[in-house]
Amino acid sequence: MATVTFENVSKRFGDVVAVDDLSLDIRDAEFMVLVGPSGCGKTTSLRMIAGLEEITSGVLRIGERIINEVPPKDRDIAMVFQSYALYPHMSIRDNLAFGLKLRHVPKAQIETRVKEAAAILDLTRYLDRKPRELSGGQRQRVALGRAIVREPAVFLMDEPLSNLDAKLRVETRANILRLHQRLNTTFVYVTHDQIEAMTMGTRIAVMNEGRLQQVGTPQELYDRPINRFVAGFIGSPAMNFTSVEVTGSGDAMQLTGPNVTMPVPPQFRASIGATGRSLIAGYRPEHLELGPIEGKAAIVNAKAEVVEYLGNEELIHASGAGRDIVAIIDSAYRVRPGDMLELKMPLDKVQLFDPDTNFALPFTPATA
Ligand SMILES: Nc1ncnc2c1ncn2[C@@H]1O[C@H](COP(=O)(O)OP(=O)(O)O)[C@@H](O)[C@H]1O
Ligand SMILES: [Mg+2]
Repeated sequence: MATVTFENVSKRFGDVVAVDDLSLDIRDAEFMVLVGPSGCGKTTSLRMIAGLEEITSGVLRIGERIINEVPPKDRDIAMVFQSYALYPHMSIRDNLAFGLKLRHVPKAQIETRVKEAAAILDLTRYLDRKPRELSGGQRQRVALGRAIVREPAVFLMDEPLSNLDAKLRVETRANILRLHQRLNTTFVYVTHDQIEAMTMGTRIAVMNEGRLQQVGTPQELYDRPINRFVAGFIGSPAMNFTSVEVTGSGDAMQLTGPNVTMPVPPQFRASIGATGRSLIAGYRPEHLELGPIEGKAAIVNAKAEVVEYLGNEELIHASGAGRDIVAIIDSAYRVRPGDMLELKMPLDKVQLFDPDTNFALPFTPATA
């Protein structure tokens, strides 16, 4: 078991800064997800832990040990890639055993470990088959098995589910989580898919353009995104944004936009600034309601354009004052294209951002 610590780590490829001054503490036995759009530096960060990429500056540790100069084979890690890269001419058993043979692990121990890994991954009855005789999902389990038999201190996974179809992805996601619970080892998992990040991570590190944006539990990122990037990246469908202005004064102070009005949300009373200030309001599709809600509400006026029926809910694509708005509401309302909607949302769900810095405004809990 081990922690992984990035201390001001940067990686440059010529002029490209792939990872910029990354500081991140990955705790022992946690499932840390690195998430962000393509090209943001996730793979590079993972490959630096693995030792497949030299670091340009900073300090990288596994446990207390500085590993900047430690060769990959001595780092006590195992990595699973997007492509499974199994040896086609070898049986599943030999594919699982291969890395251990290379390391001269005693034969009896190899057999025990292969047997255990196969049992954990439900591969026992396929051990004598060749990779081509397995489905994509089974092959991905073999790739996981190859990592398990190594009994590493840290598992590194780079988009291991990307080649699977949607149903298998959900199944394998659960398999990997079970594996994590069972092995109780540190996992560092890279994905561009925020749903994967939210469902799998003990904590999530959100990256953009080589820079760490925010680290937190899924709920922290969802409830209190630190900036507009995280707010828009986490959550599906994405958060709606609209510009608003502080109007009125005293108890009549409001936030007003082209299609939005609301009393000042109590959690932002201390940070809202003066009348006339421009802000960006953010609100999630799932927090909009058509029916009455309790307490003071923010009101969004919009015209329904496209309605996607999802069974118990409807996904509404609407427009208000020239802006696209997405809402998820109870399908019992049977909204039709062309309907004029008055959408409401509880004030405590509203997020506010400074349009100059894109940072969220400081937040005081309503009880304070
Ligand atoms: N070997 C390399 N040579 C040059 N540029 C690279 C190399 N590897 C990655 N990059 C660049 O570094 C940035 C981060 O890449 P990467 O870590 O692969 O992103 P991600 O995994 O988040 O999609 C990208 O701009 C990419 O083009
Ligand atoms: Mg990548």
